[in-house]
Amino acid sequence: MRHLLEIDDLTKDELTEVLDRSAATDLEPNMTGQGVALVFEKPSARTRNSLEMAVYQLGANGVYIQGSEVGFDVRETTEDIAHTLAGYYDVVCARVFKHETLERMAATETVPIVNLLSDQAHPMQGLADILTLQQEFGTDISGKTIAYVGDPNNVWRSLSIAAGMLGANLRLAAPAGHLPSDADLAKITDAGGDPVISQSPAEAVDGADAVYTDVWVSMGEEGDADAKKADFSQFTVTNEVMEAAGPDAIFMHCLPAHRGEEVAAEVADGPKSRIWPQAENRMHTARGLLSWLSEQ
Ligand code: CP
Ligand code: NVA
Repeated sequence: MRHLLEIDDLTKDELTEVLDRSAATDLEPNMTGQGVALVFEKPSARTRNSLEMAVYQLGANGVYIQGSEVGFDVRETTEDIAHTLAGYYDVVCARVFKHETLERMAATETVPIVNLLSDQAHPMQGLADILTLQQEFGTDISGKTIAYVGDPNNVWRSLSIAAGMLGANLRLAAPAGHLPSDADLAKITDAGGDPVISQSPAEAVDGADAVYTDVWVSMGEEGDADAKKADFSQFTVTNEVMEAAGPDAIFMHCLPAHRGEEVAAEVADGPKSRIWPQAENRMHTARGLLSWLSEQ
């Protein structure tokens, strides 16, 4: 039984196949009559809607379930919820606060589990990010340089693992006190990445093909908001940062964006921005991933 809790649950060949299926315009609906649970402990615009449409396009039925309704470890154990949902659904997708919740569901080995964002990882976003890069630079993104400016969070981890697996060069600019752990760096290195860490946005983006950022305060971190915003105040992706990257660099953001914090409005809404194709690609890659998973 296969799960997708992080991008490196796929081999490089499998990642490539998922991306090929995501880009295909003639994908056969291969989940006719199946059910997909979509459990959310946190809000979502892109993930819920892209998954619901991808499930529909594959011929399956998606059911949205609020996390509070099933109540992981509140109403009953996480394991009992996994066993129960496995009786109705062919795949269980979940957005959770704690990554461990996904690991415990997967450990029941009752139904494939797909991570729709946890505190550790956002692999479905990583897939869409890579498809966006491929649409921009061609299928082979090896040797392309992706500079991430901001919080090395769930989105950064999955992007770095995916891009590292495909041979892209990785740069990160983050302030002292918010640099990635040795374990994070080891995971990215094991996947094939070779991240270069800096505390200077201008240095990190120099010559980059893509500049990426995400919010400074992720869902679940609201208690640290004031301190994090202060720590990251010099890490906004502005027009000056994009100019330091070079004339052909594109801008990416998983969204939701906080204009005036991690990105200037003129960048998010400017000609270098690819945020809308990137958001649309969430649906195409959800379809590609579920199509592949249903054949495992
Ligand atoms: N990028 C992303 O996951 O967006 P949502 O939180 O709106 O799903
Ligand atoms: N890092 C953000 C991503 C939102 C899609 C969060 O976890 O809230």
